[in-house]
Amino acid sequence: MNIRYLFLILTVLLLLAIGLIYLIWPPVLWSLVFLGPLMLLGLSDILQRKHAIKRNFPVIGNLRYALEMIRPEIMQYFVETDTQGRPINRLQRSLVYQRAKREIDTAPFGTQMDVYDEGYEWMDHSIYAKSVDEFGESPRVRIGGSDCQQPYQASILNISAMSFGSLSQNAVKAMNKGAGLGGFAQNTGEGGISPYHKAFGGDLIWQIGTGYFGCRAADGTFSAEKFRENAAAACVRMIEIKLSQGAKPGHGGILPAKKNTPEIAEIRGVQAYTAVHSPPGHSAFDSPDGLMRFVQHLRELCGGKPVGFKLCIGKKEEFLEICRAMLRTGIRPDFITIDGGEGGTGAAPLEFSNSMGMPMLDGLAFAHDALVGFNLKEEVRLIASGKIISGFHMVRAIALGADLCNSARAMMMAAGCIQALQCNTNRCPVGVATQDPGLMRGLVVEDKAERVANYHRATVKSFAEMVAAAGLDSPDQLTRGHIHRRIDENRVMTYAEIYPEPLPGSLLVG
Ligand SMILES: Cc1cc2nc3c(=O)[nH]c(=O)nc-3n(C[C@H](O)[C@H](O)[C@H](O)COP(=O)(O)O)c2cc1C
Repeated sequence: MNIRYLFLILTVLLLLAIGLIYLIWPPVLWSLVFLGPLMLLGLSDILQRKHAIKRNFPVIGNLRYALEMIRPEIMQYFVETDTQGRPINRLQRSLVYQRAKREIDTAPFGTQMDVYDEGYEWMDHSIYAKSVDEFGESPRVRIGGSDCQQPYQASILNISAMSFGSLSQNAVKAMNKGAGLGGFAQNTGEGGISPYHKAFGGDLIWQIGTGYFGCRAADGTFSAEKFRENAAAACVRMIEIKLSQGAKPGHGGILPAKKNTPEIAEIRGVQAYTAVHSPPGHSAFDSPDGLMRFVQHLRELCGGKPVGFKLCIGKKEEFLEICRAMLRTGIRPDFITIDGGEGGTGAAPLEFSNSMGMPMLDGLAFAHDALVGFNLKEEVRLIASGKIISGFHMVRAIALGADLCNSARAMMMAAGCIQALQCNTNRCPVGVATQDPGLMRGLVVEDKAERVANYHRATVKSFAEMVAAAGLDSPDQLTRGHIHRRIDENRVMTYAEIYPEPLPGSLLVG
């Protein structure tokens, strides 16, 4: 039974019991001195709308917030760890929470990292720093090559693919409303477009995975008619073909049976309460040229909206072959999303999450350089995703060659995720990654939508301030030379040295 109803029932039973005992033993009324405040606290927990844990776990949930208040002291004794025993990065998590809640956006006492540690990274600033007003706090990027008839002016930071199914309907709604408030886009994930993605008019990037959910024929293959129908919605601004995802490249998607409710099954066109595995590969094409023709086919079917694809880099040669296919067919995607092997997921085998797929920075540099080498970069925008949480993470990705960034888990945290690591069990205590209506109720859409928009606004602002502090007029002036990495105690290299750029067109020769 849902703990909230349990609390209410217990409260009523306790009051009845006290009433009955009072008839034979009046001093029992004194117990209300202790129980009364607890009951009132529980009721106010259930009714308040800010804290999902208190809404879902009245009275007992307050312990979490009490511990949070004394966090600095408590943290000396408790270090939260993830499933592999590594400490969870509390600094970055609290950065998201502070920004989402519009709490103070500064840190006390100075640098909190060991700047002589191997791997420490920093950015060059300039004596001739600019004012952020000179290029605006929220830069936008035009996506759409020469074959695109409806280019999209994207925010420089958007919500990465997460399906309704892995996320609750309230989480999807909160993100959609947040995207609408902040003027950025929400990627639907491969689970198709649900009514919740359309609830508040936020811009959508419709992702098409190997299961073709939302454009699926009865035999599980791609249906052009269904695609045309759904892609016509005005809120669908771009189409993304999912080739692979960093957390489980080559594995396809898994929707656990418990989370496959009748509603989700209906949206996806599958049987309810069965585990849904999207196949590892696409049936609509089986070669790089075929992929390009599919891009063109989708572009025609959707009336010329930008069409691109997402992948985590695996075999380099396969990506180079895709570039050659662009040259052979004359078809270019409008964007390519590069996901890092460090990416997130609702459910995946541990070995795939930990040990497959190229990390984002390496994959991004490689994809960028391949496109430059084949003289293809001009028309194709690159989107980076993989642990992008702070303004510096954005700076770093854009310096390497990305045009814009996506974020999944930071947006989840802004929507209330506390990293309970229960996404694959349907027991997410804050209602973000569950289909349990009792737990989902804890997530109040209006409150969390504001937080998603707040987090986005503050992070993009911090990114813009860093670009201005480097003396640049716009983000596209960021180069690999701006970012430094400590290689060991005595050596530092810039990204330009670590990832040397090829000359434009150099891969066309020979
Ligand atoms: C709950 C969850 C569900 C996801 N679902 C999808 C999906 O349907 N399609 C996809 O391409 N990526 C999916 N991803 C991966 C993210 O879109 C993103 O590429 C990855 O998590 C890296 O970004 P991050 O480090 O900001 O989380 C999912 C991630 C999470 C956490």
